[in-house]
Amino acid sequence: MDIFDMEIIIQPTAEAATSIAARIIACLLREKPNAVLGLATGSTPLLLYRELIAMKLDWRKVTTFNLDEYVGLDAAHPQSYHSFMWENLFWHVNIPAKNVNIPNGMTKNIPACCESYERKILAVGGIDLQVLGIGTDGHIGFNEQTSSLASRTRIKTLTPRTRKDNARFFGSEAKVPHHVITMGIGTILDARHCLLLAFGKQKARAIAEAVEGPVTSMNPASVLQLHPKVTVCLAAGAASKLKLRDYYRWVFDQKPDWQKI
Ligand code: GLP
Repeated sequence: MDIFDMEIIIQPTAEAATSIAARIIACLLREKPNAVLGLATGSTPLLLYRELIAMKLDWRKVTTFNLDEYVGLDAAHPQSYHSFMWENLFWHVNIPAKNVNIPNGMTKNIPACCESYERKILAVGGIDLQVLGIGTDGHIGFNEQTSSLASRTRIKTLTPRTRKDNARFFGSEAKVPHHVITMGIGTILDARHCLLLAFGKQKARAIAEAVEGPVTSMNPASVLQLHPKVTVCLAAGAASKLKLRDYYRWVFDQKPDWQKI
């Protein structure tokens, strides 16, 4: 039976948390070979993609939609999310290129590109499972603080903090683009299942606010509290500021067999 709730899973390491997330995705692809996956970039899902590749799942009928892309970086740019996704996942699985969707950062018409991205998601029946990481300020996708909680795919301007956080990929902060195209928070909430991953201590505050704080656009991930089906896979560091962490651990350990992942 399917569970509809927010489930917090705390594991000792990023590897253990990732392996639960990978099993959830593997289960979905086995049950629904033509599943629609929403995918994320950043360092957090790297382990997940590695594990999914090793599982040798069948991706022939899978469709994917990535959360976001930098404006002004062409697909071949080494720091584009296009390059990231092909290098870290798509080249290593049997997904047809036509099934891969990532916003076009070089489009001449951003509003039209965003609208057609939304239409394409609808046309394939919506996203079955959306993978999410979280920024140190609680952003999901590139929905920065104070984003509309009902927003759809659109252009956003990055905050200085996000540009600083992402400077490590570009070599210097000056090279990080200012603008991005991102699925909106409303777009993310439409996914039938959201799977949020967070590991290190640097994510602990954002996670505590997202899970146990008030729903607020100052922590965009907190809106997931309004979603009927969310799985939060955490390594201990990222869970360290959760007030109810012992309760979440207990709940997970007591799971009846029929609910086990
Ligand atoms: C970027 C991405 C987000 C990601 C966040 C955290 O801002 N747009 O999708 O969750 O970085 O990245 P990391 O996993 O590297 O900490």
